[in-house]
Amino acid sequence: MKIAFVGKGGSGKTTLSSLFIRHLAAAGAPVVAIDADINQHLGAALGLDEAESAGLPAMGEHLPLIKDYLRGSNPRIASAEKMIKTTPPGEGSRLLRVREDNPVYDACARPVELDGGAVRLMVTGHFTDADLGVACYHSKTGAVELCLNHLVDGPDEYVVVDMTAGSDSFASGMFTRFDMTFLVAEPTRKGVSVYRQYKEYARDFGVTLKVVGNKVQGPDDLDFLREQAGDDLLVTVGHSDWVRAMEKGRPPRFDLLEEVNARALRALRTAADETYGSRDWRRYTRQMVEFHQRNARSWGNERTGTDLAAQVDPGFVLGEEVVAPA
Ligand SMILES: Nc1ncnc2c1ncn2[C@@H]1O[C@H](COP(=O)(O)OP(=O)(O)OP(=O)(O)O)[C@@H](O)[C@H]1O
Ligand SMILES: [Mg+2]
Repeated sequence: MKIAFVGKGGSGKTTLSSLFIRHLAAAGAPVVAIDADINQHLGAALGLDEAESAGLPAMGEHLPLIKDYLRGSNPRIASAEKMIKTTPPGEGSRLLRVREDNPVYDACARPVELDGGAVRLMVTGHFTDADLGVACYHSKTGAVELCLNHLVDGPDEYVVVDMTAGSDSFASGMFTRFDMTFLVAEPTRKGVSVYRQYKEYARDFGVTLKVVGNKVQGPDDLDFLREQAGDDLLVTVGHSDWVRAMEKGRPPRFDLLEEVNARALRALRTAADETYGSRDWRRYTRQMVEFHQRNARSWGNERTGTDLAAQVDPGFVLGEEVVAPA
């Protein structure tokens, strides 16, 4: 299951993604956690100290390796240099699985021990000003998008991405790559306006979006979010002393998280799991091809000096039953 946490800066994306990741790990589920946020804090929220966080390999710096591996023997992709962030898999491409070892994880993922078991953590690396432009060739999130477009995940295995609600994800199509998108919103006008904007983009692409209220303090806050988000409001999370203790570098055992917040995390998992029945690999593949063609026309063809539309394998549909070449 591919799950994104998006929202306004400071809304609690990293906090809620990290709690959700801890919840999944405690239940014994395999998890790949990805930090694709502008502010790279997921490692710290999962308990890494500063030196450990700083020592994590950046996906953005391993793009050539990622491209070369995923390209495999796909005859439509001449070289890693001709591969852009939206280049879709086709016959001969290598696919990624949550539960496997592969050179991409070797280079970019590090295990993080949590109560219940280890998860794999991958980070895009720090963003520079150049990364924040639209459809940037060297976009840090491009590495994440490539991985998501080559990932064949089944139920009960999870990829959780901590992400912004920014223009980069809309330009590239990244926001369409998830079974479930949790939009974290504080009960404020600004928090809700990001929800509206996201919903607008999501509408035409069949994106499943649920609002998770955060820092919700009383009936007034709850009423406000209900009124603004309607049926999209899934659950709300209040102030957490467990989170505060964690922020002080003294994380209690995870089973000591407040029961009301633990219940909210179970609701997130249930809602995410329920989307599996309506997953549509054909649509998933079609959308990645559409965004690839859009990127090809707007900048990719010119940048690579190639007709990138020819990279599309018309007969290929990504799916769990696809058998990847060795
Ligand atoms: N439910 C909560 N209880 C207590 N503290 C919280 C809660 N949610 C968020 N916080 C605190 O609020 C601050 C911002 O949260 P967080 O870093 O998760 O937001 P973010 O959306 O990831 O921000 P950014 O856009 O900077 O990445 C953090 O210090 C975090 O510990
Ligand atoms: Mg964050």
